[in-house]
Amino acid sequence: MQASDPVTSILLVDDEEDIRDVLDIALRDKGYTVYTAQDGKEALEIFEKRRPPVILTDIKMPGMDGIELLKIIKRENPETEVIMITGHGDMGLAVESLKNEATDFITKPINVDALDIALKRARERITVRRQLQAYTENLERLVREKSELQDHLSALGLMIGTISHGLKGLLTGLDGGMYILESGLKSNDEAKRQEGWQIVKTMVGRIRKLVMDILFYAKKREIERQPIEARKFVEQLYDAAVAKIKSRGIEFIHHCPDHDFTISVDPGYLQAALMNIIENAVDACLKDESKDNHRITFTLKDTGNHVIFSIEDNGVGMDKETRDNLFSLFFSSKGRSGTGLGLFVARKIVEQHGGSIEVSSTPGRGSRFVIKLPKNPVNDPETQPSPKATPSGNRNVSS
Ligand SMILES: Nc1ncnc2c1ncn2[C@@H]1O[C@H](COP(=O)(O)OP(=O)(O)OP(=O)(O)O)[C@@H](O)[C@H]1O
Ligand SMILES: [Mg+2]
Repeated sequence: MQASDPVTSILLVDDEEDIRDVLDIALRDKGYTVYTAQDGKEALEIFEKRRPPVILTDIKMPGMDGIELLKIIKRENPETEVIMITGHGDMGLAVESLKNEATDFITKPINVDALDIALKRARERITVRRQLQAYTENLERLVREKSELQDHLSALGLMIGTISHGLKGLLTGLDGGMYILESGLKSNDEAKRQEGWQIVKTMVGRIRKLVMDILFYAKKREIERQPIEARKFVEQLYDAAVAKIKSRGIEFIHHCPDHDFTISVDPGYLQAALMNIIENAVDACLKDESKDNHRITFTLKDTGNHVIFSIEDNGVGMDKETRDNLFSLFFSSKGRSGTGLGLFVARKIVEQHGGSIEVSSTPGRGSRFVIKLPKNPVNDPETQPSPKATPSGNRNVSS
């Protein structure tokens, strides 16, 4: 027997002690571990415990005979190779055992060469079966990989299409702004110059945001946490956005707790995520023609282990379809001015921080986004992202 031999142990079943002893010695000499049983019942007990790949059994035994044993073994584990030992004139039984999936049969008195041939056959069958299993698994893996690749390619195609479409719209807007600016410069018209310049700035800002979102989407980078002062972070973000928001006629207020506390986050990424949510709130207010006054409230809360940022607007709100899809890649209700990357990216960033986003919204009344992050993720058991966002009622939880 070689080291790579698929058969290392054999169960030998015979009611005749002499035959058991002789075969036991012969098989041990060849390097096999041998288990012996004097009847079918004992054989099944050993088989349950040891699961040898090969069984060598006498056909005629008192109680359970060899064929019955063969049938039970094949039912239990069809991959077990069973070699039958027959007496002279048992040809009918030998044929029946082959019909019941026996590997081979050898006749008494046992010839060592015949035993070797039968064992060789059993070994070959086991090897071929294992190879087949490996090929099948390999084939299944290849099929899986191919379908994943196809999914990636179609997502890539969709992404390129959506982004090109978005960029085309923004460039058209930029052209328009440049045209107004240029004609304002030529005719020395200050109002036109201002109007054109504002459009150019808005379009460049949108192109910048789109490119940043694409970069976040395309290149998964691990977040780099650093301890930051939560109140200062919120105030800086507020200061960066307030002038622009107020210039659109929207009130923008922020609330922070009285005490200072630090959080461990990637400030650049987190700021991009929150900015995407704030910009959506601005769009929702601008789209709403039903109210005279619009307001966005940005709140920071300290709950002990967690920090909560909430962004609330009294804009158009969302219908059920929007609530159910708002985190999906490329989902947008904004036509040419939206790509549908913003919240997808925001959620990815929040998940990377081990946090969750909860959304509640009522059509015509407004929306609230609540972002909950662990303050100190190393010690917090809740930091592992949970499997999937599940919308319920008018709430949508992404984690
Ligand atoms: N505060 C909100 N109020 C109403 N609808 C919202 C709000 N926030 C998000 N939505 C809806 O969710 C959709 C997806 O938002 P998301 O930020 O992912 O994409 P977008 O704003 O359309 O495009 P962009 O990629 O430029 O951000 C929006 O188009 C809008 O329909
Ligand atoms: Mg957006």
